[in-house]
Amino acid sequence: MSNPVEIRPALPPEIARRRTFAIISHPDAGKTTLTEKFLLYGGAIQLAGQVRAKGEARRTRSDFMQMEKDRGISVSASAMSFDYDSHRFNLVDTPGHSDFSEDTYRTLTAVDAAIMVIDGAKGVESQTRKLFEVCRLRDLPILTFCNKMDREARDTFEIIDEIQENLAIDVTPASWPIGMGRDFLGCYDLLGDRLELMDRADRNRVAESIKLDGLADPRLADHIPAAQLAQLREEVEMARELMPAFDHKSLLEGHLTPIWFGSAINSFGVRELMNGIANYGPPPQPQRANRQVLPEEKAVTGFVFKVQANMDPKHRDRVAFVRMASGHFTRGMKLLHVRSKKQMAVTNPVLFLAADRELADEAWAGDIIGIPNHGQLRIGDALTEGEALRFTGIPSFAPELLRNCRAGDPMKAKHLDKALMQFAEEGAAKVFKPMLGAGFIVGVVGALQFEVLASRIELEYGLPVRFEGSQFTSARWVSGEKAEVEKFVAANKGHIATDNDGDIVYLTRLQWDIDRIARDWPGVKLTATKEMMV
Ligand code: G4P
Repeated sequence: MSNPVEIRPALPPEIARRRTFAIISHPDAGKTTLTEKFLLYGGAIQLAGQVRAKGEARRTRSDFMQMEKDRGISVSASAMSFDYDSHRFNLVDTPGHSDFSEDTYRTLTAVDAAIMVIDGAKGVESQTRKLFEVCRLRDLPILTFCNKMDREARDTFEIIDEIQENLAIDVTPASWPIGMGRDFLGCYDLLGDRLELMDRADRNRVAESIKLDGLADPRLADHIPAAQLAQLREEVEMARELMPAFDHKSLLEGHLTPIWFGSAINSFGVRELMNGIANYGPPPQPQRANRQVLPEEKAVTGFVFKVQANMDPKHRDRVAFVRMASGHFTRGMKLLHVRSKKQMAVTNPVLFLAADRELADEAWAGDIIGIPNHGQLRIGDALTEGEALRFTGIPSFAPELLRNCRAGDPMKAKHLDKALMQFAEEGAAKVFKPMLGAGFIVGVVGALQFEVLASRIELEYGLPVRFEGSQFTSARWVSGEKAEVEKFVAANKGHIATDNDGDIVYLTRLQWDIDRIARDWPGVKLTATKEMMV
């Protein structure tokens, strides 16, 4: 096996052993199945089927969740922690539907690497491409898993070519498949020189693994029929000529992705992929803030990348998911909530283990903890031991769809105010209060979010609401010199609103307006994203 490069020797062992990553895929490629196998090998669950079973139990909890189930999407994200060999894995779940891309983007700000799952028969699909682009923006290292090799898959060279061409990233085979579909026998592990044989009889059995002296080893003939063996040798020789060799540094820089072939449902190739993350995946990385925050710094820091409300309908709690950026956190610690400048005693942080939530007695840089709270913690917020840190790179995108929101019962307009503010803080929607006129304008990135919001407002607040067409179609945040912005606002009152943080927004239905302002108001800047921070 090629030696794992020592990347950040300064890291304390507890931090160095952590791997925080997400699995991204087009729906149906096998993300859930792969996640489940990860948890199984991580000892977090005992039986295959529990993730799905748990999903079912959770989904039937409410109509909203019912909708999620009907549509076959996963709206909520969570993080799961488990040990694998000497490593601690933090697997952050990404919402699967393209409508929720903003949420996904923010989720990916909390991880150090991503596993991209593709279906061997389908190759790179639309959602794979979108998610990949998001990873690219952040230069995340990516490990690729080509799944469903037990079915008729595409030619191996073709799959690799497609990834290289479509995603503009170098691909190096970490394993090479032997046959496919009904003739799929297993893989040759190119990084470890092992033969991995799939057991078709027992889906949960880990493959037999035989150490070899390279592809010329005569023992290969004991396990692989002559024709397939000849093909394997020929293909690997060609692959070695045509494709870049594995290079740890390129992987960590996000320029090269190693690809493993397997069949998640047959537990095949999963361990090799997990070993890949353990051996070659990055440990917790420095985080961007008004200064760079290094994981090995003694002082505890972290940032909120997701807020989820009403996870448990019995308790109206919200959980803020915090990515620990540095230090060693222990339960009960008092941390500074930088935005409000108030101290917070973090007495009941939770770690999400697959089976359930558990109190987190400690957490290290790289870990994800959930902090139940009553709304103080918002996306982008920093927690520190006193420093006024501002984490950056957690953007808020301009919504692409705007609608007016009205309460079915006008007497309850006040409650609507509260409900909308909560969803805005959760990052589920943008809520704008126009300067002139009553009511709210709600903005989302995907149309499905209006339906999700309407059913959540009804379910969680007992308030039927209607979303109606708005005269506006675009929103832009306004910035510039105070006096200039005030002049601009006074001249454009009918187009001005404030968002839930009180920041000024310009609403319009014409791109022409936006271009005109760029020309006529040089001192005013309109932007489509806003950094979520104070
Ligand atoms: P997702 O989370 O990416 O959406 O995919 P998921 O794991 O739910 O898998 C989608 C479908 O693909 C499931 O079938 C699953 O059983 C199947 N699948 C996953 N991995 C493999 C594999 O390695 N080989 C084969 N042949 N199939 C695989 P389903 O019929 O939609 O669900 P189910 O009835 O099997 O649960």
